[in-house]
Amino acid sequence: DMSVDLNSLQNVQLVREGHLAIVTVNRPAKLNALDGQTIAELDAVFAALDGDASCGAIVLTGAGEKAFIAGADISVLAKQGVLDGSDNARAGQQLTLRIENNRKPVLAAINGFALGGGLEMALACDVRFAAKTAKLGLPEVSLGIIPGYGGTQRLARLCGTGTALQLILTGDPVTADEALRVGLVNGVFEPGELLAQVKAIALKMVSRGPLALAMAKQAVRRGVHLSMQDGLALEADLFGAISSTAEMKEGMAAFLEKRKPSWLRA
Ligand code: COA
Repeated sequence: DMSVDLNSLQNVQLVREGHLAIVTVNRPAKLNALDGQTIAELDAVFAALDGDASCGAIVLTGAGEKAFIAGADISVLAKQGVLDGSDNARAGQQLTLRIENNRKPVLAAINGFALGGGLEMALACDVRFAAKTAKLGLPEVSLGIIPGYGGTQRLARLCGTGTALQLILTGDPVTADEALRVGLVNGVFEPGELLAQVKAIALKMVSRGPLALAMAKQAVRRGVHLSMQDGLALEADLFGAISSTAEMKEGMAAFLEKRKPSWLRA
């Protein structure tokens, strides 16, 4: 178990811009590949932001112009045996769950290669936007392994088994435009525009009710694993839970008074 000091991160940069948190994987010389330290740091950062009321939304991106995250660190994978192999997969999977279940919206700004574990991190984000020059793929079978950070599950759920099996069985990456066509990303921007555009979308989310965002996300995230009947019951429960909160009163009052709502944030 690696302990992480949020004040002296080595491979991850955390920048706060008002209510936005920009999380940058910062190992550009290795194309931001995920070694154990980087995964531990990302895990600690996402855990901290989850409980931080002043954070309204999180943008995940990669340092440098070439890569978002070029995958798990192959020099680490090369040495693993059965036991540490499953430990490695579990650590990466825990991070994807930390992203997916985070109370805050998480937006991926895919600025370059999103391969293997890198694409799997993006798949755990709520929405994905890519630079036109980005390449996205799951090349694991070309290394004699399979995706281990949730890729076999989340890609199939997001894009269907046909697209998932094409990417997973060929190992070949797709372009950003192809990723947009198959629903793997929500939008494509010029490389120089990407981060500003993703921040603008994040700010749009931050302008909405924070509790409503968390509950809406939870309804969708938990609902996909349920039957329609159970999912609708969950939605009704959450709808009830948010009714008559201070946030709801402020949202309704602001509409009726023709003003912008002022949300309760730290
Ligand atoms: N793990 C460890 N190191 C990685 C890495 C990874 N996943 N991806 C890139 N790197 C390292 C390279 O080894 C190289 O390090 P070096 O300068 O010390 O030799 C550095 O990052 C730059 O990468 P390089 O391969 O020289 O860049 P490129 O432009 O020629 O190729 C890629 C870019 C992304 C096509 C290529 O790096 C690649 O195929 N990476 C592996 C992708 C992958 O299979 N990921 C899934 C892992 S499960």
